[in-house]
Amino acid sequence: MNRDTLEKKLEREKQKNEILENMIEGKTRNIYFEKEKFREQSEFLKKVIDSVPHPFFVVNADDYSIIMANSSTHAGTSSKKIHCYEVMHHKTAPCINEGYLCPLAEVKRTKKPVTVEHVHSDIPNNTRLIQVFGYPILDNNGDVAQMIEYTMDITEQKESLDRFKAMTENTSDWIWEVDENAAYTYASPRVKDLLGYEPEELIGRTLFDLMPPEEAERVAKEFGRIAKDGMPFSRLENTNLHKDGHHVVLETSGVPILDANKHLRGYRGIDRDITVRKEIEERNRCQLQRLTALRKIDMTITASLDQHVTLNVIINEVIGQLKVDAADILLYKPVLQTLEYAAGSGFRTQALQYSRLKVGESYAGQAASERCVVHIPDLHKADGFRRSVYMTEENFISYYGVPLIAKGNVTGVLEVFHRSALEPDDEWLGFLESLAGQAAIAIDSAALFEGMQRSNLALITAYDATIEGWSRALDLRDKETEGHSHRVTELTVRIAHAMGIRGAEQVHIRRGALLHDIGKMGIPDRILLKPGPLNEEEWEIMRKHPVFAYEMLSPIDYLRPALDIPYCHHEKMDGTGYPRGLKGEQIPLSARIFAVVDILDALSSDRPYRPAWPNEKVLEHIRSLTGGHLDPNVVETFLENEKDLLSLPVLCYSKA
Ligand code: C2E
Ligand code: SIN
Ligand code: SIN
Ligand code: FE
Ligand code: FE
Repeated sequence: MNRDTLEKKLEREKQKNEILENMIEGKTRNIYFEKEKFREQSEFLKKVIDSVPHPFFVVNADDYSIIMANSSTHAGTSSKKIHCYEVMHHKTAPCINEGYLCPLAEVKRTKKPVTVEHVHSDIPNNTRLIQVFGYPILDNNGDVAQMIEYTMDITEQKESLDRFKAMTENTSDWIWEVDENAAYTYASPRVKDLLGYEPEELIGRTLFDLMPPEEAERVAKEFGRIAKDGMPFSRLENTNLHKDGHHVVLETSGVPILDANKHLRGYRGIDRDITVRKEIEERNRCQLQRLTALRKIDMTITASLDQHVTLNVIINEVIGQLKVDAADILLYKPVLQTLEYAAGSGFRTQALQYSRLKVGESYAGQAASERCVVHIPDLHKADGFRRSVYMTEENFISYYGVPLIAKGNVTGVLEVFHRSALEPDDEWLGFLESLAGQAAIAIDSAALFEGMQRSNLALITAYDATIEGWSRALDLRDKETEGHSHRVTELTVRIAHAMGIRGAEQVHIRRGALLHDIGKMGIPDRILLKPGPLNEEEWEIMRKHPVFAYEMLSPIDYLRPALDIPYCHHEKMDGTGYPRGLKGEQIPLSARIFAVVDILDALSSDRPYRPAWPNEKVLEHIRSLTGGHLDPNVVETFLENEKDLLSLPVLCYSKA
């Protein structure tokens, strides 16, 4: 190796060293720089950690000595090496309390993060709930080198959570959450009381799964409508199935759960059991209906004295209100001592319609004779119901027989039949007895009325017989053919009918026509039976016969409405008639009608003063009197119907 070579070599070494020195210097600078950076970073970290309002510290995994702690930690920021237990109140030091899971020991063992809650109870009356998080820091070999512990006082959070839980779980209502498909994601335990399910059993089921199919369909529609707009809803009534199958009526309110984008994610709500409330409402409604029914029967009794109508109304109310299949009313016949079917409904056969039971026989008879309600829960098992061979076809199970008692007397029996078992409550029974009471009253008042009607009818019959007697006596005295009065009466009634007169008016016309010449009773024989024409003095007396009729009949109330014909049958349309000279419509229509019939009949008959006229002459004469003497409308009606009116000789001449 020559000198040059050596120098060059040295030169090169020198350069190398320089580079190296430079490098070393630079590295030192780097190291210095990094130390500085590290110092800054840890200052920053310390500040961050200090700002955390909860104790936070890092320990060595070997000996639990504190490497770093924030100012919230009991040990403060003391740099002296301190065992982690010392940062705790010694009473609650994690490893001292028995049964306490030391989170750091757990972290060390499992090499995984650990969360533990523990009660910090050293301060009297101020028990705190602490949540401790442990977190491992692993070295390159995957062993736990250091551990972080971080504690939080969660007493308040826990309290509000507990409060919420207590509220949701102890209210009588059931609180739930569903997702956007209406499937339960949460159900408070109260659902067990309401619907019989454990909360877990509901998770995943939809709220419609808990309803009868029809109700589910209805509620799904409604829920769909509400959810479309993501609106809150309140007090939706819905019927749910209890786990054991019975129906529970719930009232549901809910609010939508919206995500950050305001999309509907589900509903959160509350269900209240309103079954009892609904039952009370239903009972009130039922009671109101029953009161209305009683009122309706009351009104029917008052309005209609037709017993048949009233009993049918009662039967319909019995069936409708008591929700039974059939009912009937048997009437007591005291003379025969029997019960006879009077009204009924709901029967498939006519088995009971011909019922005639001896009192004391059969259940109805027993109800009547013992005056008590007879209840047979199952007719199949009872042998007393042998009323009819068809009865088996009716297939009745339950039977009630209620005696109808009015003013202390049994008037009948109300029978109720049902094709399945009846389980009536007291209200049902009470109402049955009320209806029976109404039926008894209806029967009693109908009987009263019937009695009244019968005596009234007897009276009317007696009066009419008297009138007939007078009328016949008059015919005889006037030497008329027997039946004259009946003949004119019949024809008058027919024309009146043809002119639209009906009802009571027709009855009065009949009586008035029969008595039309009753006033002739006051005309002496020498005038009435005179074979020739009357002189002026005789006429004067003869013209009084309508006034005599008025004087005879007007004191009799019953005949006063029948006075028009006897009093006015000689009035003329032009006012030239007697006794008052009435004109046109001043003359009662019945009298205008009768005048036509009277002249027709008089001219067709022999009189002491002349023989009967031929038919043609009579009709011609009547036509000639039209307008001045007779009412053209009446004459027209008569002539139009002449054949019909006169072609009923059998009727005309027969005795009424
Ligand atoms: P009456 O015999 O029943 O007659 C009723 C009416 O028929 C008479 O009412 C009159 O409008 C009509 N009429 C009866 N016969 C004749 C008749 O021959 N010619 C005509 N044109 N009309 C007749 P009126 O006239 O007010 O008489 C009332 C009653 O007076 C008669 O009832 C009858 O009982 C009696 N009367 C009337 N004219 C005579 C008479 O000439 N002699 C007797 N004895 N009695 C007479
Ligand atoms: C009529 O047939 O037009 C009435 C007869 C009557 O009431 O007797
Ligand atoms: C009659 O024919 O008996 C009635 C006579 C009359 O109306 O005056
Ligand atoms: Fe007359
Ligand atoms: Fe007459």
